[in-house]
Amino acid sequence: NPIDAFDMVFFGGTGDLALRKLLPALYHQHQDGNLPKDGRIICLGRSPSDTASYTAKAQSKAKEFLGSHYNEADWAQFAERIEYFKVDAHTLSDFEILAEALNIYPNRSRVFYLSTAPDFFAPIAKNLAAVGLNKGNSRVVLEKPLGHDLESSNKINDEVGEYFQEQQIYRIDHYLGKEPVLNLIALRFANTLLEPLWRREWIRDVQITVTEQVGVETRADFYDKTGALRDMVQNHLLQLLTIVAMEPPASIDADAVRDEKLKVLRALKPLTPENVHNKVVRGQYRAGAVGGKAVPGYQDEPGVPAGSKAETFVALKAEIETWRWAGVPFFLRTGKRLQERLAEIVINFRAAPTSIFGKNMQANRMVIQLQPDESVRLYLLAKEPGRERLREVYLDLDFKETFSTRSPEAYERLLMDVIKGDLSLFVRRDEQRAAWRWVEPIIESWENSSEGPKTYTAGTWGPAASSALLSRDGLCWHEES
Ligand code: BG6
Repeated sequence: NPIDAFDMVFFGGTGDLALRKLLPALYHQHQDGNLPKDGRIICLGRSPSDTASYTAKAQSKAKEFLGSHYNEADWAQFAERIEYFKVDAHTLSDFEILAEALNIYPNRSRVFYLSTAPDFFAPIAKNLAAVGLNKGNSRVVLEKPLGHDLESSNKINDEVGEYFQEQQIYRIDHYLGKEPVLNLIALRFANTLLEPLWRREWIRDVQITVTEQVGVETRADFYDKTGALRDMVQNHLLQLLTIVAMEPPASIDADAVRDEKLKVLRALKPLTPENVHNKVVRGQYRAGAVGGKAVPGYQDEPGVPAGSKAETFVALKAEIETWRWAGVPFFLRTGKRLQERLAEIVINFRAAPTSIFGKNMQANRMVIQLQPDESVRLYLLAKEPGRERLREVYLDLDFKETFSTRSPEAYERLLMDVIKGDLSLFVRRDEQRAAWRWVEPIIESWENSSEGPKTYTAGTWGPAASSALLSRDGLCWHEES
């Protein structure tokens, strides 16, 4: 559908996210002809700069990240949309100048994307309201981390909520914009084949893995206070879990979908500080080799304080107390400096009740891969030609091969949705609250424990306790099977 004229305003315009992801995402959409001619991109930062030098910087970053998609002529045309303003979150007069620039086109949809530290969300919302920019067609996008725990996230939501209605607030979780995740919704609810099997009678366990090879990079300051639980589990992994586990929504409307996701979060069996050590593994990498290259341990990364207990790895067992899922463990795992960069959802089906082909037959499974490739594979047993032997094979939906179109990056889809005013793929306040509530006992238990994270060698799949978590249920992680 064509979209209307818009003004997209990036707070934190000089930051990494804006330069590496947001501008390149809009560039792609521009290049594909999806942006209306009348669409400005207004980038804000605290440093005094001008549009020409900002655009030059954005261009050099974009070249780096767009690779072969970068095209000089397209960029030149795209860059005409960009304007730069110096805006300090606490300085009202800066907002007055911004309002003047935006009010040239009073009827456009306005998106304020807050790609800053969460401490700035409240002053920005307040100052936007003070100059009347919270009215009409205005939307505000909140980047994670939205708080540090339930209490701080409630506070931010209350503060922003004073100036913007919930319907104007887009809490972004970029994992919800990844194509294979969107496809999982289609696979589940556009086909009749899977739905009857998508339940405890047929599914033995579910595994959700998001592993990275990179370490803490240049973000030690942020990461050390955050850790993998808050950085990845509370948001991305739990959101993926809701998409796998939700009941069919009555429609594709934002609230119909989000109601169902919320029900899943609320049905998660609560953890208690006492049982956390049985169900949650926290790890931290020590020196090792990743992809054949020696890397330092977390404690030796620049900016990490000595003796840090921040977790760079989490594996946990979640249970959903509903008729559909009771008794089916959902194992979640994420970490940095692991063996491979991999994001996948594995649905392990139950083994055949009896086998005429002998023992130890591999059960069926479905693997939805988000990264590095985008695919859905259904693993089955088939007979090898000319031999009396069964082998595991898969039916393969490889997105690149099946569809000739480019698979857009998550931020492309999500930015377009905000411009259109579609909230379906954004996290509602009650969902976020339920997710924080569920992880709180983990945080509490770790804070009160004298034990630190278990160490693992960089370049492995994490601490041994991660495999032990599954073996207690007689299971193993997908790559170990
Ligand atoms: C971000 C985390 O939300 O997601 C990062 O803050 C992480 O630590 C990133 O690296 C992973 O996203 P993706 O899309 O590269 O898998």
